[in-house]
Amino acid sequence: MTTNRTQAIAGAVAAIRQYTERVPQVGIILGSGLSQLVDHIQDAVVVPYTAIPGFAPSAVPGHRGELVLGELGGVSVLAMRGRFHFYEGYAMDEVTLPVHVMRALGADILIVTNAAGGLNANWQVGDLMRISDHIFMPGMAGFHPLRGHNDDTLGPRFPAMLNAYDPELGAMAKAAAERAGATLREGVYAMLAGPSFETGAEMNYLRGVGVDAVGMSTAPETIVARYRGMRVLGISLITNIAHPDAPPANHEEVLEAGETAKPMFSALITDVLSQIAAY
Ligand code: 6GU
Repeated sequence: MTTNRTQAIAGAVAAIRQYTERVPQVGIILGSGLSQLVDHIQDAVVVPYTAIPGFAPSAVPGHRGELVLGELGGVSVLAMRGRFHFYEGYAMDEVTLPVHVMRALGADILIVTNAAGGLNANWQVGDLMRISDHIFMPGMAGFHPLRGHNDDTLGPRFPAMLNAYDPELGAMAKAAAERAGATLREGVYAMLAGPSFETGAEMNYLRGVGVDAVGMSTAPETIVARYRGMRVLGISLITNIAHPDAPPANHEEVLEAGETAKPMFSALITDVLSQIAAY
């Protein structure tokens, strides 16, 4: 995907421009159960994925496939209600096309969120975690969104990934959590391909290599955002505890935890946006 990528970006941008001329500053990807944030967006223009070439309808329960452009916390935003997961069968290029599109529309900050299993025994379901760093296991195994020909006008062949998650945005999230009375953890997120959850041995392995939360998304989007020169804030909602002695994870409890964390999560993101607006 080379000119293909450039063409795909241009095609999606043109389709979205049929709906609105809004220039978003911040792109927001909403994880499982966290989409209700879009209800707070003012002057919302909704673009269904079915209207955007290259965006497939999202099939996972709890994910509705639409972009919502509008104003939140005094900032012009573009929120994705429903993302494309690698486990659904999408190529890494398809998973990350929306990030390219956000950038092409004008966004220079990405807020990426997800539901994740907590590997840290001291953490609770419902805790929020600021992603300090990630381990991209599918990427390490060759499923990488930047594999193949590089278009130098989009980003560098060998993009750096040190400090991929912006410390300054992280500090804003921390301040927002304190104001909201929320527990904001900080830690390393590992992406597995899914769709199966971890075995006990995999949980122990991940814990051993310093992982705090595990999920099936986020790392590809962050990599493309960094490649495109965007600053990234990553937030995980801990929906279950990934421990061999804990009850096995299931998708329903993932959605349920999102339900409970709704107000906290919305308050946190909106506060961060207000800080970005004042910046
Ligand atoms: Cl426990 N594991 C993975 N891989 N993804 C998750 C999860 C666990 N909980 C939510 N998403």
